[in-house]
Amino acid sequence: MLASGTWGLGENLDNFFALKEIKENIGALVTKGVSVNPRKGNLPPRIFETPCGLINSIGIENPGIKEFKRNYLPRIKSYGVPVIVNLYGEEIEEFLELSQELRGEADGLELNISCPNVKKGGLFFSYDSKTVSKLVKEVREIWKDFLAVKLSPVGPVYEIAEICEKYGADAVVVANTYPALAVLEFKPLKILQGGLSGPAIKPLTLRLVYEISKKIRIPVIGCGGIVSGKDALEYLLCGAKAFQVGTANLIDPRVSIKIIKELRDLKNGLCCKSNSS
Ligand SMILES: Cc1cc2nc3c(=O)[nH]c(=O)nc-3n(C[C@H](O)[C@H](O)[C@H](O)COP(=O)(O)O)c2cc1C
Repeated sequence: MLASGTWGLGENLDNFFALKEIKENIGALVTKGVSVNPRKGNLPPRIFETPCGLINSIGIENPGIKEFKRNYLPRIKSYGVPVIVNLYGEEIEEFLELSQELRGEADGLELNISCPNVKKGGLFFSYDSKTVSKLVKEVREIWKDFLAVKLSPVGPVYEIAEICEKYGADAVVVANTYPALAVLEFKPLKILQGGLSGPAIKPLTLRLVYEISKKIRIPVIGCGGIVSGKDALEYLLCGAKAFQVGTANLIDPRVSIKIIKELRDLKNGLCCKSNSS
């Protein structure tokens, strides 16, 4: 799957891929986070490169659900693979409104309870198991199709994963970015706080996937620092049933094709080795 926020709003995916390539290689498209009202996002700077990683502080810039449904979703659906809409709300009621709006319009929802770049909602949900229980339970009553919850890598992660399973989520996405900080200028001190993604986080998220997939029965979707078929295979061997590619898309929008090809080659190699031994 292409991870939320790392391939634009989907308006120009076919500039980079032939439709056939999308259908043959991409399991689902997870949209940029969508909120009830339009959001301008945070003021710049919003992006900072670190060795092997990226700190972003976009702040869920998006046109709001009405405009998204009218001008973006039809285009994303036209690519012919399942569309999972990533939802962002500051309150449970907003998630419920968004779920209502999308009934019959998308193949799945991914509830973002883990964005580190916003003042309300986002990461704060991830520390509060009661709120997450209520959120998943109430969205489940409205939304009968595929429902995933995107977890934060910080906070009571195992408890939150178990709650998602208990209240009816079909899968958890492990995980969003890690709260991080970069120093931009020394004097006066200027900093950027945001979420760290990319290869730097892979060993951390891989461990979370490994541990969480032992604790719950619903599928874990691994997401964190995947840039190669080997990375993807490691996630699958550590318990993930599917995976998402995020930051790597910003470097090479076609990277998912390369990852899938490498993964197929590696799996063929593994399968031949175990057959011959
Ligand atoms: C520029 C950027 C924007 C993102 N926007 C969202 C978003 O809107 N909603 C969300 O749930 N995750 C968002 N993410 C998080 C990614 O979907 C992904 O979970 C995270 O970057 C870890 O995966 P990666 O290391 O492969 O990038 C964003 C990440 C980046 C780099």
